[in-house]
Amino acid sequence: MTQSANERLGLAPTDPRPPAETQPVEDGRRTNPIFNDQKMKLGLFGQNCSYGLIMSHAESSFEISWEHNLSIARQADELGFEALVPVARWKGFGGSTNFNGNCFETYTWAAATAQATENIGIFATSHLPTVHPIVAAKQAVTIDRISHGRFGVNLVMGWVPPEMEMFGGEQREHDQRYEFGQAWIDLATQLWTETGSFDVDNEFFSGRDLEAYPKPWQAPRPALLNAGNSPRGVEFSARNVDVNFASLDTLENIDAYTKKVRGLAKDKYHREIDVMTYGLVVCRPTEAEAKRDFQNVVDKGDWGAAGNVINIALSGASQSFDHAREMSERFIAGWGGYPLVGTPEQVVQGLKELSDAGMGGMIMGMIDFNEEMKFFGDEVMPLMIEAGLRHA
Ligand SMILES: Cc1cc2nc3c(=O)[nH]c(=O)nc-3n(C[C@H](O)[C@H](O)[C@H](O)COP(=O)(O)O)c2cc1C
Repeated sequence: MTQSANERLGLAPTDPRPPAETQPVEDGRRTNPIFNDQKMKLGLFGQNCSYGLIMSHAESSFEISWEHNLSIARQADELGFEALVPVARWKGFGGSTNFNGNCFETYTWAAATAQATENIGIFATSHLPTVHPIVAAKQAVTIDRISHGRFGVNLVMGWVPPEMEMFGGEQREHDQRYEFGQAWIDLATQLWTETGSFDVDNEFFSGRDLEAYPKPWQAPRPALLNAGNSPRGVEFSARNVDVNFASLDTLENIDAYTKKVRGLAKDKYHREIDVMTYGLVVCRPTEAEAKRDFQNVVDKGDWGAAGNVINIALSGASQSFDHAREMSERFIAGWGGYPLVGTPEQVVQGLKELSDAGMGGMIMGMIDFNEEMKFFGDEVMPLMIEAGLRHA
């Protein structure tokens, strides 16, 4: 057995009993609103990336500046939303907008947003192959402590080859990405929970005398999200995370999907999991205005960027023109999510249908987050209370 660096340098072995201030300071994760008792949780998605959830030149004051991001985050916080979820992106999707190409890195974004807000849950979306779990676990603890237990990580495996090629490696085959993800989250979890030091030696990671202090504010670990929708992805979610993020089209599919995810977590892993979805919300005083603004997004759409996304997603599979056009529209107006378009009553009706189909939350995009949040707070949220989807 070779000597560890600790031994070679004559360092005292790590004291397995950490000082009190390095222990988790809360029992459980009550501090993170993603675990509160609101029936339909609310969040914002993609405010850190240019064009947010719309691949379109539709008119909007939305811009990627820190001041603008802060204003959006603080409005969501004041309204009592549960989550701010950024998109992890390293380069844009081309087209006339270079969609999402101008974007803030998500851990540093989350740290600053955590300091600037009071109650809302703050997430970092992390491409696991781009960051070593020791670095990520430590960053997560730091943000968890800045936010007093409101932080979480959205674990993504990296599905866009041009992005992964920026890091010099070859993209792993689909299911292998989840194998790597499992080793990644196992190691991060060990760092969050284990006292003393330990070695790691597996197919993906090796190291000696690993330790990490302090421990997270939330015990045993920060909240975890994952957006795996494939069988392997759903398995990963059921085994490891608190919320599965789903991209689905019809209520029938949503109902079947939420039952499947919750059932797998319960039956196979004896754990609870929530399921949430995302989409573009276009809420206006009249249905005609909402439909007009939604259609304007499509009419001014960046079909080039949408085509690039679809080509990557389908990996060259041939599609009929009609289907490709329909898919492009879904991507242009909401990144492929579940759109809610209409009056406050109609949007609440849509949220009720999602809730009845087993969805625990809507993490939404808006054409102009900063300008539209107030209307949502004034007109939609009171109706959600009346509909039994939320309480005051
Ligand atoms: C709500 C949601 C958010 C996502 N966020 C990101 C992201 O920020 N960055 C990214 O590269 N992929 C993101 N993805 C893609 C997922 O990580 C994943 O590749 C995709 O859902 C397909 O998973 P599957 O291969 O298990 O079906 C997101 C997916 C969904 C549904």
